[in-house]
Amino acid sequence: MTDLITVEDVRVSYGEVAALRGISAHVDDGEIVGVIGPNGAGKTTLVETISGFHDYEGRVAYRDREVAGHHPADLVADGLVHCAESRDLFGHLSVEDNLELGAYRHHDGVEDRLAFVYDLFPVLEERADQNARTMSGGEQQMLAIGRALMGDPDVLLLDEPTLGLAPVILGDISDGLDEIRDAGVTVLLAEQNVTFTMNHADRVYLLENGKVEREGDPKTLRGDEYIRTAYLGE
Ligand SMILES: Nc1ncnc2c1ncn2[C@@H]1O[C@H](COP(=O)(O)OP(=O)(O)OP(=O)(O)O)[C@@H](O)[C@H]1O
Ligand SMILES: [Mg+2]
Repeated sequence: MTDLITVEDVRVSYGEVAALRGISAHVDDGEIVGVIGPNGAGKTTLVETISGFHDYEGRVAYRDREVAGHHPADLVADGLVHCAESRDLFGHLSVEDNLELGAYRHHDGVEDRLAFVYDLFPVLEERADQNARTMSGGEQQMLAIGRALMGDPDVLLLDEPTLGLAPVILGDISDGLDEIRDAGVTVLLAEQNVTFTMNHADRVYLLENGKVEREGDPKTLRGDEYIRTAYLGE
């Protein structure tokens, strides 16, 4: 396997606040890699740093190229697509317009990708003309993921896709993630939902206070006493 994303001893601060305090991690081609951790652990900062949104110390590389110095939009054009925690939809535009805007860097194959997204989340096709802001929270999350997929990602950075979602919608997102992997997309999944992450990821990093506290495959981590008590409530 080849590293698509390499993170080595990365430090990111917001003024006086050290958000990432020496993080090393990697994502290989075809993997789903989970990043778990409590509020403020640094998950979003890590994902945003990989997407080119923050100055950092250390090394962050996508396809062996240093991320620093590249505009986030160039990384998107190169297949690294970020689906933000805030979803960032265009509320006054329709579902379909939002999806089409996701393809702004990749005009080839738009129809095929739209068909893929509608197949993945049929509610988006049923609501194609509805304003994005009037969609439910779960529907908006599907739309945000769908829009990211319209960018034709090789790597999808997914930040908190299950945040605030009811279990039934969680199942839809879960099925969607399986299909996204089957389509050959590599995924970095930042999540507070440890069970969801463990069910999907090949490998997981636990962040606490800007550092990697544990890493391993879900089976190993499920057997870890600290993870069991602090994160799985056992
Ligand atoms: N724009 C900012 N200005 C100052 N501090 C920030 C900013 N964004 C994040 N931080 C701080 O950086 C740390 C890491 O935050 P981050 O959002 O990366 O955590 P997170 O793991 O994604 O948390 P959550 O689970 O709540 O989304 C926190 O202490 C947070 O307060
Ligand atoms: Mg976050």
